[in-house]
Amino acid sequence: MSREQRKQDHIQEAIQQHHTRSPFDDIHFIHQTLATSTFDQCNLETTFLNQSISAPFLINAMTGGGGEKTTRINQQLAEAARHFRIPMAVGSQMAAIKEKQQEHTYRIIRDVAPDTFFLANLGAEATVEDALRAIDMIDANALQIHFNHIQELAMPEGDRDFSKRVAHLEKIVASSPVPVIAKEVGFGMTQEAVKQLYEVGVHAVDVSGAGGTNFSQIENARRHLPLSFFNNWGIETPTALIEATTLRLPIPLIASGGIASSLDIAKALSLGASVAGMSGLFIKTLQTKGYDALILCMEQIIEDLRYIMTALNVHTIPELKNVPLLIKGETHHWLTERGIDTKAFAQRT
Ligand SMILES: Cc1cc2nc3c(=O)[nH]c(=O)nc-3n(C[C@H](O)[C@H](O)[C@H](O)COP(=O)(O)O)c2cc1C
Repeated sequence: MSREQRKQDHIQEAIQQHHTRSPFDDIHFIHQTLATSTFDQCNLETTFLNQSISAPFLINAMTGGGGEKTTRINQQLAEAARHFRIPMAVGSQMAAIKEKQQEHTYRIIRDVAPDTFFLANLGAEATVEDALRAIDMIDANALQIHFNHIQELAMPEGDRDFSKRVAHLEKIVASSPVPVIAKEVGFGMTQEAVKQLYEVGVHAVDVSGAGGTNFSQIENARRHLPLSFFNNWGIETPTALIEATTLRLPIPLIASGGIASSLDIAKALSLGASVAGMSGLFIKTLQTKGYDALILCMEQIIEDLRYIMTALNVHTIPELKNVPLLIKGETHHWLTERGIDTKAFAQRT
């Protein structure tokens, strides 16, 4: 199967996935009866990798490399990113590195949004030369390197040798002219992994946990003999995020994986993420309801975040990091077994 066809299949499969619960259901904000906040004073402006952005979320890596269909998707996502002054990542650019005629499916974003914060994207099999080409292709402001070995294993034509991935990342970090972000693709990370990535020198980590787009299911749908044991694999996003934030590393964390509402975003920011990343929600909205619906969806997220901030008695994004919240259920069980204290979140003021 061609890379172009595979990319189109991934989009179709992702759109058809439905989630009956949020991975953030175990996280509960503690109600603030004596709030003194004012809706009109809520300010969503924040910084991400030293750039000012107007709201604390980004359009996460998805596409390009699937011919004209993906050019159109990237163009519309880039227009939305420009409209709201939020960052956007493209999907893996390996397709354009292997086939030059796919370059414009990515480059289109810079044509429509010359000043937007764009993130290039490649898998950790990439060389330094690949990374420099990907950055150059879209004049990227940052580079995402994804670690996706469960997806590769489930993919019939996927990689089977992961022995050089961390070494590749280390070389890319040393040579990149822009900040490098290490990310998962929906299976989450442990704090040991995040610590190792920090020691390698990355400038940010996207824990991209389970609970949203499920690449095991996507790849299994394309397999003759499904590897169904991978369908429930991974660490849910809030769990991975708390594992990472308790390290207190001096780099920003991105929460992605199953973020589908302003409440999920608020919870992710309160757990210590600098921004939230969303893919599934945005591609589903764009592809099934159109561009105007995507803009409406983002407007609604921004408006609803203001309501939630007012309810929580905060006016700024950094203040969200101090609101008290309770961690229940399986998330609590996991963290307790891993020796992470959850009481600190419930008792802070
Ligand atoms: C259609 C589609 C294609 C994706 N392609 C990539 C990719 O090329 N590179 C990457 O790092 N992540 C890719 N992802 C993963 C997302 O960036 C994100 O980590 C994951 O989907 C979890 O977020 P979500 O639950 O909001 O979708 C893709 C996701 C979707 C839905």
